[in-house]
Formats: sequence, structure tokens, C-alpha cells
Amino acid sequence: MFQTDRFIEECRNALRETNAHAAVRELVDRAVRDPSQIMRAVGEPQRAGVNTIYKADDLTILNLCWGPHMDIHPHNHNMWAVIGIYAGREQNMFYRRDGHGLVRHGTKELNVSDTAPLGKNIIHAVTNPLDQITAALHVYGGDFFATPRSEWDPKTLEEHPYDVEHTIQMFEASNARL
Ligand SMILES: [Fe+2]
Repeated sequence: MFQTDRFIEECRNALRETNAHAAVRELVDRAVRDPSQIMRAVGEPQRAGVNTIYKADDLTILNLCWGPHMDIHPHNHNMWAVIGIYAGREQNMFYRRDGHGLVRHGTKELNVSDTAPLGKNIIHAVTNPLDQITAALHVYGGDFFATPRSEWDPKTLEEHPYDVEHTIQMFEASNARL
């Protein structure tokens, strides 16, 4: 059964493993196998938003709810991550750097109970293709909010410092449409 406190503790313990990323992936994989248990613990997704379950220098756990048809610009994290979907669907477009811009090099669709480990250097854009909320556990191997990172203009693919305010506005706009 998924319990938030227990999950935090297990992720903290996983950080001591030789391959912390793989250990956390197993935990997320196990958690999203039973989405109803996650919803029992964190509530049914009602609004788009970034809900922080846990935050430390070496670990961030988010309950991330994408609004209907939300599009997130290409961005990096500069730390490993694991995504596990417990409601809806997420489409990922992966990029790599190319001169001053980016080139696309792959896509991955994640459905309920799917997990995806993301390496430290990945650059991705995310879309919720559904007219309902997509909800996922996101676990990061660092302080997601304090670590400097980049986002890329979706049209020009120019790199800029990550703009937290812009992201908050996108979630608010999405909620206004809900
Ligand atoms: Fe991301």
C-alpha cells in the first residue's frame, strides 16, 4: 500500500544504494502499479499544479498534475529523475543540443503505471494529450527548485535560464481553463 511517509523514507534509503537512480525507479514502479493507492494517499487530481511531497538538497519528490492539453517547453533538470504516471497520459519529446539550439531525437508515451528513468543530461518537452488531468510522481536526485537549469524557446529552440514564474503562469492558465 502506498503511504507518503513510507515512500519518502524508502527513497531516502535508496539514495544510499550504489545505483540510487535504479533503486528509486523500482520504488516508483512499485508505487504506480496501483494508482488507486496513490490517489488514496495524495487525493484525486483536481487541479494542474506542482505539489511538493518532499524537498531536500539531494532529493525532491513531486506530485505533478498536468492540466488538459498542457504543453511544457523543452527543459533540462541537471539531475537524474524518475517519472511514474498514476492518471492520464504524458507524451515526452527528447532533444539533444545542436550548436546553439536543439534537435529532436526521440519520443516516449507514458500511460498509467508506466515509469521512465531520465538521465542527468536529458532535455525533454512534455505534453498532456488528454482533456483530463495527467498526474505523476516525479522523483529527482537533487533540489529540483534550487538547481540552475535551462529551458528552450519552443519556436526558436534558443536556450534561456529556466523561468519558474513562467511555469507557474502556465499552470494557472491551465487551471483557468478547467
Ligand atoms: Fe522535466
